[in-house]
Amino acid sequence: MSNLLILGSQWGDEGKGKIVDLLAEKADLVIRFQGGANAGHTVVAGDEKFVLHQLPSGVLSGGCFNVIGNGCVVDPNALMEEITAIRKSGIIVSPRNLLVSANAHVVTRLHKLIDEKLGGTIGTTGRGIGPCYSQKAERIGLRFHDLLDGSYKTKIRKQTPKLDFLSLRDRGTVMKESIEEIEELLDILKPYIGDTQQVISRAVSGKKNVLFEGAQGTMLDVDHGTYPFVTSSNTTIGAAFTGTGVFVEFNKRIAVAKAFQTRVGKGPFPTELKTALGNKLRTVGKEFGATTGRPRRCGWLDLKLLKDSFMINGFNYLILTKLDCLTGIEKIKVAIDHDESERPIYVELPGWTEDISDIGNFAKLPKSCRDYIAYIEEFLKIDAGVISVGPDRKQTLIRRKIW
Ligand code: IMP
Repeated sequence: MSNLLILGSQWGDEGKGKIVDLLAEKADLVIRFQGGANAGHTVVAGDEKFVLHQLPSGVLSGGCFNVIGNGCVVDPNALMEEITAIRKSGIIVSPRNLLVSANAHVVTRLHKLIDEKLGGTIGTTGRGIGPCYSQKAERIGLRFHDLLDGSYKTKIRKQTPKLDFLSLRDRGTVMKESIEEIEELLDILKPYIGDTQQVISRAVSGKKNVLFEGAQGTMLDVDHGTYPFVTSSNTTIGAAFTGTGVFVEFNKRIAVAKAFQTRVGKGPFPTELKTALGNKLRTVGKEFGATTGRPRRCGWLDLKLLKDSFMINGFNYLILTKLDCLTGIEKIKVAIDHDESERPIYVELPGWTEDISDIGNFAKLPKSCRDYIAYIEEFLKIDAGVISVGPDRKQTLIRRKIW
């Protein structure tokens, strides 16, 4: 049986949701190990479109167990809203198929308020992620086990930081509301909280298929990304260990890479296209944030960044997504390096005009499309095992077995 790790190799939004959903069909356990409601994993199944934020994508496949690990920061309100929303489509989420780590940190009203006020310089998602991780590092964080033993009230009171933008009275109100918000959900939440480390440890050492689902992307990693324009967690391979508390020998370390590049929020983006072509990619690729709806910045594929991402994560499997969005571009540029001023150095490759979204078979792809893939493979010294040519499960060309 297999342990798979799947990570975004760029700035997030590489199309991980669809791939994890495909893989979840054969998974016994799917684990989220970092991030929180800032993530937005879009999955299209038949006529239905689901956007998951905190729930592991395994909830949609029905048959597997799902874990939110200790490395995550979880907003209980948003989690319950997400569960209620997907239940409307007949999908079952209950403590029988979902467990939240007692050591995961709780995102409160306070965190969201701080993020709203202060997150603008980075262009955060406003979901309270940074302030929650900050308080974790300050050792004044609120964890899910505090909800079980009743210590949450004292802990929330201790969280009142020096919020210059709030008067003393307002601080009191925010504390009160944070406590009330949690108390409203306490009875519903309690059965979901438990020891995820043991569950994961048993699964990875037993005969199970286990899938570790990363959120965001490598270039948003708080250590290895484009700091300070990053998220507040590690989004790279190490987080799979720290965010679960279990050592795992991954059979496959899977990179999901978009065939071009996008980023939401602020920060450097050397290959960004601030042109009509960038707008076209945004429209064709429906490149709008799954969490905030913000338009994503679009640009050419940056192989230099991707190579760094391979070095960090030791990827041994590549999935290329959204190749269909490049159809109709006469000449496609790819950055192979950056000069001393961080400007991209490009090569130009011929494009294709044929619609490839229903092609069904790798060999039927137009030659210049196969050449584009081959160029990436040669540069990264790895074959692309899966090519995604559209949002639906059917629009997937599988060349190399994953599980
Ligand atoms: P935060 O994670 O909300 O603190 O936002 C920090 C940066 O990470 C911002 O530029 C966000 O747009 C970006 N970010 C956070 N989550 C995602 C994601 O799931 N996809 C893409 N960008 C993200």
